[in-house]
Amino acid sequence: MTVQDFIPKPYNNVVERGQFTWEAPSNIALVKYWGKKAGQIPENPSISFTLDACKTITTLRFEKKQNDGAFSLDVYLEGEKKDDFKPKIQTFFERIEIYMPFLKDYHFKIETSNTFPHSSGIASSASGMSALALCLMSVEKELIAVASSAVETSLEDNYFNLKASFLARLGSGSACRSIEGDLVVWGKHPSIEGSSDLFGVKYPFEVHNNFKNYNDTILLVDKGEKQVSSTVGHNLMYDHPFAQERFKQANKNLFNLIDILKTGDLKAFIEVVEGEALTLHAMMMTSMPYFILMKPNTLEIINKIWAYREHTGIPVCFTLDAGANVHVLYPEKETVRVNEFIKNELVEYCQSGHYICDKIGFGAKRVDIEK
Ligand code: PMV
Repeated sequence: MTVQDFIPKPYNNVVERGQFTWEAPSNIALVKYWGKKAGQIPENPSISFTLDACKTITTLRFEKKQNDGAFSLDVYLEGEKKDDFKPKIQTFFERIEIYMPFLKDYHFKIETSNTFPHSSGIASSASGMSALALCLMSVEKELIAVASSAVETSLEDNYFNLKASFLARLGSGSACRSIEGDLVVWGKHPSIEGSSDLFGVKYPFEVHNNFKNYNDTILLVDKGEKQVSSTVGHNLMYDHPFAQERFKQANKNLFNLIDILKTGDLKAFIEVVEGEALTLHAMMMTSMPYFILMKPNTLEIINKIWAYREHTGIPVCFTLDAGANVHVLYPEKETVRVNEFIKNELVEYCQSGHYICDKIGFGAKRVDIEK
């Protein structure tokens, strides 16, 4: 598919007003996206676990207005009006307007809330942008005439998700991996048919039972705002001395994961996932200007995990986002033992002892159909 496929034909229906509510999850990358080309095109393919508990719930209310050539929107977070969120959504609307030509015909009221605390260091852009993209897709669906057969409906459902992912990507790259579950690939990879730089697709191959219901306990090491935004970080990959090698490595890691996910090889999985996390931060530490997002407690936790794994043989590992928090990943059958370990040995390194128990999830869903 090309970008042209996301430009709609003229709409058939007239809709005066309505509202939709979607909830969309966060995701955690196993092979990381770090570095992009113009138009939010990733420099390398990535793959992520869709999460289950960490999500954004967004209600979009829309009411017809005179098209005066301007966007009109209000944003609320947890019931509070947030004018400082408007510029980001305004930019998002500008980027997607060509694919959603109705945006200037309505006034939008966007009410959003997260299941995780706003100041937790967990980025809400992936879940937030995907929830908003899905709400907008529901509006577009109303504007298009209804399907007449089951085949058409299923084709439409597939297109609905692809376009939602395509739009979410234009809001925040990794958001395109937050529409579906449970493993999602974004970025063209020669070994993964259907993979695309334009949207995320469900991982199409066999996945071993070892990876079903995989756990992700997020240890909140630093709940503050990131000192360096991911936009700045991505841009620093332009002239980065190790960029080309890094992009090659990500392709290779994704290739290797195909076999690992099929055979359930947890040792090899850990090597890829921890290597990816440390490479991501190594890229930050070796860019110009350089920066460090890990905190002393991030390293304390990593060392504790390594010692525990060495001592017990339990295949628990970590990954990192663009921040100090640590995602502790482990198979479902190790839940009891690893939870004990986390409580006894890791919680003390979390800010105010806070952590979030999450696991692999199955994607976004529409939660309200009121109009
Ligand atoms: O989606 P962005 O632009 O916030 O970038 C996210 C980058 C990482 O979270 C660090 C990696 C990834 O693939 O999710």
